Amino acid sequence: MNIAIIGYGKMGKEIQSTAIEQGLTVRAIIDPLVKEADFPDITEESVKDIDVGIEFTAPSVTVDNIKKMARLGKNMVVGTTGWYDRLDEVKKVVEEGGIGFVYSPNFSLGMNLFYKLIEEAARLFNRYEMYDVFCYELHNNQKVDSPSGTAKVIGKILLDHIDRKKKLVFDRLDRRIKKDELHVASVRAGFIPGTHVVGFDSEADTIEIKHEARSRKGFAMGAVLAAKWIQGKKGFYTMADVLR
Ligand SMILES: NC(=O)c1ccc[n+]([C@@H]2O[C@H](COP(=O)([O-])OP(=O)(O)OC[C@H]3O[C@@H](n4cnc5c(N)ncnc54)[C@H](OP(=O)(O)O)[C@@H]3O)[C@@H](O)[C@H]2O)c1
Repeated sequence: MNIAIIGYGKMGKEIQSTAIEQGLTVRAIIDPLVKEADFPDITEESVKDIDVGIEFTAPSVTVDNIKKMARLGKNMVVGTTGWYDRLDEVKKVVEEGGIGFVYSPNFSLGMNLFYKLIEEAARLFNRYEMYDVFCYELHNNQKVDSPSGTAKVIGKILLDHIDRKKKLVFDRLDRRIKKDELHVASVRAGFIPGTHVVGFDSEADTIEIKHEARSRKGFAMGAVLAAKWIQGKKGFYTMADVLR
């Protein structure tokens, strides 16, 4: 199976080594500025023999990259976060292009299991009004979007299963938080690959559930797994479909 790596940054490099370990052939590295890249852009030539392109770039360029791949009829795995306000547009592009597409704010298997744990915890705490709920996430100082796409997914799971919480609040609050609001906070510092914590707090105690990525390896392994899965398929999918 031949892949193209679109975006040769921290994740692109991790994808390259993981893909090779998994027996895939990296046919093209596409990045506009990095000198080790084979091509600066997605063109007919740069993705000629490619089965799937794996894209980890920046939210400002991702939708354009998806459009280019769809026009060329190439399947795609997208790990870039921060473009989800354009999901409907992308869904249409994928359908019209007749390509296979997988995206996820977090490709790690552990995080996808963590989602299940949170869902179960939320169901449990839904019954106990005395517990408030919160979430916070930590990432490296190079991350451009905030809150993380993963934190938004976690927030949605909590809202879906805790009746007394109706709204996520991400920003600084210059007032008391309302009872039906759930605070999701973001911290950016150093080299942290990604930490997400969900907490339940009562007058008596605090219970926290934490997922801490140790490196980018878990994301790369999930993205490569998704690339193998989407080969030869058509349609719009998430990592949940791949793991199902
Ligand atoms: N879904 C997940 O599991 C997961 C996990 C980790 C990270 N992420 C996300 O993945 C994205 C990338 O993260 P990262 O840590 O790898 O960032 P990074 O180190 O900044 O790498 C991004 C790379 O994309 C390149 N790029 C920019 N525009 C491009 C274009 N039009 N075509 C091709 N390449 C382009 C950049 O190149 P130049 O600098 O040379 O322009 C850079 O080398 C972020 O959105 C991050 O949040 C997702």
